[in-house]
Amino acid sequence: MPSDDFVVTPWHVEGDIDYEKLIKRFGTGKISAQLLARITRITGEDHFMLRRGVFFSHREMDRILDDYEKGNKFFLYTGRGPSGRTHIGHLVPWVFAKWLQEKFDTNMYFQLTDDEKFFSKHNLTLEDTKKFALENALDFIALGFDPKKTKIIINTSNIQALYPIAAQVAKKINFSNTKATFGFTNETNLGMIFYTSLQSAPCFIEDKPVLIPLGVDQDPHFRLTRDIAPKIGRPKPALLHNIMIPALEGPGGKMSASDGDGTVFTTDAPDVVKKKINRHAFSGGRPDLEQHRRLGGNPDIDVSFQYLRIFFEPDDDKLKTIYDDYKSGEMLSGELKAILIEKMNNFLATHQKNREKARDRVDEFLFENK
Ligand code: TRP
Repeated sequence: MPSDDFVVTPWHVEGDIDYEKLIKRFGTGKISAQLLARITRITGEDHFMLRRGVFFSHREMDRILDDYEKGNKFFLYTGRGPSGRTHIGHLVPWVFAKWLQEKFDTNMYFQLTDDEKFFSKHNLTLEDTKKFALENALDFIALGFDPKKTKIIINTSNIQALYPIAAQVAKKINFSNTKATFGFTNETNLGMIFYTSLQSAPCFIEDKPVLIPLGVDQDPHFRLTRDIAPKIGRPKPALLHNIMIPALEGPGGKMSASDGDGTVFTTDAPDVVKKKINRHAFSGGRPDLEQHRRLGGNPDIDVSFQYLRIFFEPDDDKLKTIYDDYKSGEMLSGELKAILIEKMNNFLATHQKNREKARDRVDEFLFENK
């Protein structure tokens, strides 16, 4: 990888991502001021994740809105590869998906790909990934989805429902397409090669168009799905992409659920959260107090500030005050971190209660094979 470059694929994210360049590389559309205004008009709310470019790119969101305004409904779909415990960054697109579901009053499917993570991670058994899938499901349910409109698909449990659709998809994607898309080699296992068909299947689970809020790293799967959709007589999935949520240690790469210290898990206790942020959150501050006061900090690279921007401080005025104070040197890195720690721990206190309550409700959400 050249030093000024970056990699974004479903299984590998590396480098400092230039999102403008990524839009060009992937051939997606930027969420324009016009599209933003249209979403605001229809939903009656200017969501901060759209306004701040956390969701920054799309494919055919305009078509979904055209149809919606004509009275034609769509449904929502997103998912998670259960390779470990849920961390804070995973919740970003799920919280946004819930907002979409409420505003557009749609059904929603959440796919947990225990098979995918078994295929892609050499150190995980299928039992491990299934266990993580059920743990991750608790975090999803804890966000307050309505079980009447929301179903959780676990690939190995729901294969009976997925397989007939996956077979339609698989017949239309050839090896050279997936190979070019993902860089597969002769050593790649067959599970990985077939896998896109399974991630595509929920796109066609209802007889309506689908809108998928997702991390931009997942776009390549749905590029393939979109290419073959007309060949199986189905509408192309529309997409809304979010940026990769930075790891605590710093920009470049997404939060990884595999390394413990630099990651805040949804089950972490308040003192653990405090310790992780104080020790590991990449700081935009200066090396010493004198310089910080004189020159100011850099909120644009400071991970604590980014977490406030992306998730924990929806109020623009409050966020701007923090930005200005940090940049002028009036606010110190420790003070900025303290703001984030408090917000995160408040959020987690509620989330952890709801997560425990969710244990008894999992069955209401699990997709039933017909
Ligand atoms: N492959 C995704 C991951 O590793 C999980 C996933 C399945 C997904 N279906 C999806 C993500 C649909 C976004 C949208 O996280």
